[in-house]
Amino acid sequence: VADLILRYPPRAVRSRVHVAPGSLSQVGAFVLRASGARRVVVVTDRRVAGLYLARVRRSLRAAGVMVDAVVVPSGERAKSPARLAALWDAFAGFGLGRRDAVVALGGGVVGDLAGFAAATWLRGVPWIVVPTTLLAQVDSSVGGKTAVDLAAGKNLSGAFHQPAGVLVDPETLDTLPRWQRRAGLAEVVKMGMAIDASLFRWAETQAEGLARGQTDALAGAVTRSIRAKARVVLADEREETGARTALNYGHTLGHALEAARGYRGLLHGEAVALGMRVAASLSERLAGLSPESRARQDALLDRLGLPRRLPPVPIARVIEAMAHDKKRDARGVRWVLTPRIGHASVPRLIQHGLVTAACREVGARV
Ligand SMILES: NC(=O)c1ccc[n+]([C@@H]2O[C@H](COP(=O)([O-])OP(=O)(O)OC[C@H]3O[C@@H](n4cnc5c(N)ncnc54)[C@H](O)[C@@H]3O)[C@@H](O)[C@H]2O)c1
Ligand SMILES: [Zn+2]
Repeated sequence: VADLILRYPPRAVRSRVHVAPGSLSQVGAFVLRASGARRVVVVTDRRVAGLYLARVRRSLRAAGVMVDAVVVPSGERAKSPARLAALWDAFAGFGLGRRDAVVALGGGVVGDLAGFAAATWLRGVPWIVVPTTLLAQVDSSVGGKTAVDLAAGKNLSGAFHQPAGVLVDPETLDTLPRWQRRAGLAEVVKMGMAIDASLFRWAETQAEGLARGQTDALAGAVTRSIRAKARVVLADEREETGARTALNYGHTLGHALEAARGYRGLLHGEAVALGMRVAASLSERLAGLSPESRARQDALLDRLGLPRRLPPVPIARVIEAMAHDKKRDARGVRWVLTPRIGHASVPRLIQHGLVTAACREVGARV
């Protein structure tokens, strides 16, 4: 169980964070405490609605909060401008006002979509996230990034909008398919490698429980990851000074792999795990990461059941996809490397030849 208040000075913005098994049944009281809203629109996806919407409604009503709900299809396709516009229309129909709030119940897709809708409705209304995937619990719910995808690329249109509250019930992970849970663990390893050595060491001691999906271990990973991410986000909320870019460790290649595979057949976390293996190889060669530290990262990924070898995608296609990443630089592709566990550096330009060699080491074919 953890309670945190994240403050974002100089603005009066703060996010209340509560992590506790079983807390889904207290969402009503939490919404009141975090936002004071007396009426909310819950945005969720079809799958999560079937599992948890009734409980969430009941808790909100019991706390005296009026509830409307919008259910979107499950999956990345819901993160579209058309769905965003449909949410605005629904908010208009419900008469959602400035003192009301949006509740995002679901994974990162629902969080990004509903958060962006809240950021833009009436130029910004409060929102509360109730993340139900491990990826959303350890990573996407904290930090205030919201977005939809465009044909030209993922997350191209979006806003920074800090949630008033983040309520995490790790028991919701019991219904998450095992491969989804495993993919979320990649982001935990990322937090450790990029920004928090003690989180990394802790994960090494808990690898079996994490791999099996034990609630205690997952709750610990969520709390530690949120604390670590919050520290970095508070230092660099809008990704201006560079501190926050450390969180992109493993993502340069990860995003490119996802794009090269047309976002099918490879989960985000799986792509990031492979991206970290390649990033560690480059870090060893170019940033002074010790071979022992690289081996510890790879061994932890192995124990968590994350993929070891790049899928059969031509390297040229992956490099091409990297060049389209929105974090590219005029001169080429930037990588976040780490000289030590927990201390990822600001990104630096890496020649394609070196990337190709590192990808070969992780099993890529030409
Ligand atoms: N805003 C950020 O900072 C940030 C960070 C990382 C990722 N993201 C975004 O997050 C998205 C991916 O999020 P995701 O991996 O959570 O995907 P998702 O939201 O699509 O959820 C994955 C699947 O799991 C189902 N599901 C959710 N909770 C469940 C539960 N408790 N039990 C059973 N099924 C459940 C969903 O219906 C969906 O089919 C991407 O769009 C990515 O861009 C955002
Ligand atoms: Zn990620």
